[in-house]
Amino acid sequence: MAKIVILTGAGISAESGIRTFRASDGLWEEHRIEDVATPEGFARDPQLVHRFYNARRAAASAALPNAAHQALAALEADPRHEVLLVTQNVDDLHARAGSQNLRHMHGSLFGALCAICDTRWPAPDTMHPTDRCPACNATATRPDIVWFGEMPHHMEEIWTALRGADLFVSIGTSGNVYPAAGFVQDAGRAGVETLELNLAPSTGSFDFDRARHGLATQLVPEWVKEICP
Ligand code: OAD
Repeated sequence: MAKIVILTGAGISAESGIRTFRASDGLWEEHRIEDVATPEGFARDPQLVHRFYNARRAAASAALPNAAHQALAALEADPRHEVLLVTQNVDDLHARAGSQNLRHMHGSLFGALCAICDTRWPAPDTMHPTDRCPACNATATRPDIVWFGEMPHHMEEIWTALRGADLFVSIGTSGNVYPAAGFVQDAGRAGVETLELNLAPSTGSFDFDRARHGLATQLVPEWVKEICP
């Protein structure tokens, strides 16, 4: 059975209508990343940060999984492959496409987190700075998103799976944010074959053994069909 670790980024959800992060103007949905994706930005203006993620949650809920998400779910269901799907995305499109062995390394729009006691619970559609933690009653509720300067989730498990994989595939990510951007080198050092599927060459494109460039909704189903004939 072939062991495959797959990393996805914003590019896989682009054709579902969810905008990617790195527009040429350096803004994310008209906001500076420092304002909406750092603990310092949240401390400065929690109202703005909640409004921002409330809008992202609504957009993600209105979007539908596309052919690339569906192809990865089909690959996982194939008994000839053991798939670990690691996503940097905070939308829920992989899960809604049917992927189960899924790790959200940058958290989820659909989770709430107490900044005081670390309790997690399902996020309501609309979150407010005055929302109380169900465990400690503090009003320090934040989206369960990993912001810049914070440690991504599941790292030990991901690195162990990477080292033991036969193939590492990176899909729809620009390769700008570590530690995910370093997975190709981690895999390469362990002798794992590496493949990039992305619209354009990523920052680390030369580190991959093979790369194909084009739309995720075309490349991913084609690749899955090749390895699951
Ligand atoms: P980026 O916005 O940096 O990169 C998206 C990548 O997807 C680019 O390389 C595009 O070329 C590619 N792309 C765009 N449309 C595509 C399509 N239809 N098919 C295939 N590829 C396409 O997004 P990420 O790499 O995911 O972190 O960003 C990484 C992290 O930075 C995010 O998880 C987020 C962000 O700040 C946090 O929120 C913590």
